[in-house]
Order: sequence, then C-alpha cells, then structure tokens
Amino acid sequence: DTGRDWLMRARILSFDSDPGDADSPREGSVVYHQDGALWWANGRIQAVGDYTELAPRLPADISIIDQRDKLVMPGFIDSHVHYVQLEIMASYGRQLLDWLNEYTFPEECRFAQFAHAEKMADVFLDELMRVGTTTAQVFCSSHPNSVDAFFTAAQRRGLCMLAGKVLMDRHAPDSLTDDTIGGIRDSERLISDWHGTDRLGYSVTPRFAPTSTRAQLDAAGGLLRNDPSLWLQTHLSENLGELDWVAELFPDSRDYLEVYEQSGLVGPRSTFAHGIHLDDGMRQRLAERGANIAFCPSSNLFLGSGLFDRRAARDTGLNLTLASDIGAGTDLSGLATLKAGYQVGQLRGQPLTAWAGFHALTLGNAQSLSLDDRIGRLAHGMEADFVVIDLFASPLLARRMSRCQTLAEELFTLMMLGDDRAIYETWAGGRLQHRRSA
Ligand code: GUN
Ligand code: ZN
Repeated sequence: DTGRDWLMRARILSFDSDPGDADSPREGSVVYHQDGALWWANGRIQAVGDYTELAPRLPADISIIDQRDKLVMPGFIDSHVHYVQLEIMASYGRQLLDWLNEYTFPEECRFAQFAHAEKMADVFLDELMRVGTTTAQVFCSSHPNSVDAFFTAAQRRGLCMLAGKVLMDRHAPDSLTDDTIGGIRDSERLISDWHGTDRLGYSVTPRFAPTSTRAQLDAAGGLLRNDPSLWLQTHLSENLGELDWVAELFPDSRDYLEVYEQSGLVGPRSTFAHGIHLDDGMRQRLAERGANIAFCPSSNLFLGSGLFDRRAARDTGLNLTLASDIGAGTDLSGLATLKAGYQVGQLRGQPLTAWAGFHALTLGNAQSLSLDDRIGRLAHGMEADFVVIDLFASPLLARRMSRCQTLAEELFTLMMLGDDRAIYETWAGGRLQHRRSA
C-alpha cells in the first residue's frame, strides 16, 4: 500500500557529503538521529528528523513502524556486478583470462535461453534484497533477452537499476559473440524500450577492449554521443595478462585507457571496473572526464588481480565507486565488500574507515553514478530506498556490539562482522522488498 503515509521510528544514519578518510568525519558530512523518524509516501521521502520534532507535523492517519532498536541507512548501491555470473561464484584457481574462458563464457552462453535469464534475474534480485542492495549497475550477457528479463524483473519490484547488454564481437565462443553493428542495433532497441522507463536506466556495456573490435567500440561511443543521459560500463586494467593483450591488440593506443578515449567512451557517466594497474597520468585523465573507477576488493583478492590504490585515486580527485563484481567477487553483500576493502587497504597501509565505507556504499556510489538526485541519501524528495539494520543479529555480533561505545565503533564492527543476518528489512520505492525470516 504505497499511497499511504508511513513513518519508521529508528536510529537513522545518512551522509550529506564526503566524510573524508580521517578517523573523524568531516564537519557536516554525517546526519544521525538517535531517536529518528523517516516519513515517506508514494515512494518518496517526505521528511527525516528527530522523532520528537517530526511527531507534531505528522498526518493523523500515518502508519507508524516502531523499530527503535534498529539502524536505518540508505539502501546500498553496487556499482558493478554481473547477474549472469551468480552461479559461477567460487570457481577455483584461475586468474582473469583463464577464469573468463573456463567458467564465465560457458556460463553466459546459458542466457541465450530466455527462461533461464528470467529465472536468474529473479534469483539475483532476491539475493540483492537479502543483502540490502537496492540499486546496482549490472552486466547482463550478450543476449538482448537477458536484458529484457532483468529489466522486467526489476520493474516489477519498483527498483532503481542500471543494466546493459554486453557488446563483444570477438575472442569468445560463437554463441556469445555478437555482430559488430548488430550488437549496437540491439542496444538501441533496448535503450528505446527501457532507458528512463520507471526507475531503470541503460548502461552501454562493451565487455572490455579485448572482446570488441575498434569498429564496435566506436559505435558504442556513437550511442553515448547521441544520448548523454546513457551510462557506460566496462572493465579497465584489472590484470597484467590483460594489459599485455590489450597492448598487442591496440598498438596505436599509448595505454589501455586511450583505447577507450579514442572511441569516446570516457565521460561523467562511465564506470571502469578495477583500474588497478594505472599510473597518475591515467588517473588524471579519468578525473578530468569525471569518470569513475569501481573498486571491487573481493573480486581483486579472489582473482589475484592486485591491490587497488585507493589513496592515489582519491588524491587525484578521481570519482570512486565500490562494487561486488560477482561472479569474480566472493560476496554480494555491501558489508562484505567493505570488509574486503578494509583488508586491501590494510595491505596498502591505507585502512578504510567505517565513515568512508558507508558513505561509499550509499551517497558516494550515488554521486559517482550520477544518481544522487534520486537515491543515496535519506532526505526530503529522495526515493524511499532504505535498509533496516539489526546490529544484534547474531549472538557474536550482539556480544561485540554491546562493547561499543560510539557510533563509529558500531559501524566498524558492522562492516567487519556483519553479514546478511544484519539486514533485517530492505525497502525500495517505499515498498517492503525483504524481511529476514525469524
Ligand atoms: N573483464 C572482462 N570481463 C570480465 C568479467 O566478467 N569479470 C571480471 N572481473 N573482469 C572482466
Ligand atoms: Zn566485472
């Protein structure tokens, strides 16, 4: 019943701006209400504040949900994930290029079957809801049907999702490669059917430089030039073997990034997954264009790709996002992604604070994806996507939480010890999407 007014009374945490990387958040960046209230109607947030301040202004017939023992945050955002790889998570013992050939490409071939894509789209969205992720930027397979299946499922649930059909016209099995221009035509059809429909947006999706010809990359750039409201997602500089291959395939480009620059693929709505092996010049060029790098820590650890230099990226003013990169990632959960991000940071001498982490999962990802006019914050006018967190979800978590004295400690404990049991409820578009059983 989304037409009614609803109010949730809970602890409420949201960010208004980047808290920085210091132990204490920058002044004014954190919005926290210990006895807070979140009021929404018709899928949009009406007001957020202290319960006692909001209470006198509430409509008489508002439905109040009292969850004062829970912590409410904006729904988590995953900037880079492959829904078609859910069932090959945890495939043993390979780095990127072998992993793609042995596990990933054969798996993605299965999505030629629409019924399979339909089933997996629902399985994937169920999993996202279970971990509190309300928005994701999603790779489908190269089959246009896999995109129709995904968007149909997301639309039915009222979710804000970005997705696109993989473009790949070479270096993969026949049943996965598309035709150079046929793949672009299919993308155009999907854009006209889905981009801007309800809460959905289209991401032009060349898989990565090695699996598209220059002609296809150029044509993908043409789509972006025709419609600057489109997103772009691809992979960049993840693995050293990949770098050598790109250098061989594109001898006229001075580096990997230039392959994408030459086709007009680097802009403010572009997401480049990984970006591990970059120099400062490349970071600078990405920053100047407003493009973002998706840091995918659990994937980088799983495939042995390398340790992302988050500080160098931040120092260059580069937009960063945080992502699971399932199926190379080992966990869909934003909390698990933060844990892996912290571990990568430790190995680089740049530990991730809980402030920076939860900001990244919410407002940071929303801003870097140009979605912050709709999601990422709990504030008047925003779409009502939020997660209700149970900080005492397991005996061990409860025990550790009971020792915390500050919100900062609680949040850090949550990011290191929390898992899907801590996600008590997930709401999106003002609708309850998931409630943990028992
Ligand atoms: N590079 C090209 N394709 C992929 C993919 O599916 N996963 C990852 N992690 N890297 C890629
Ligand atoms: Zn990926």
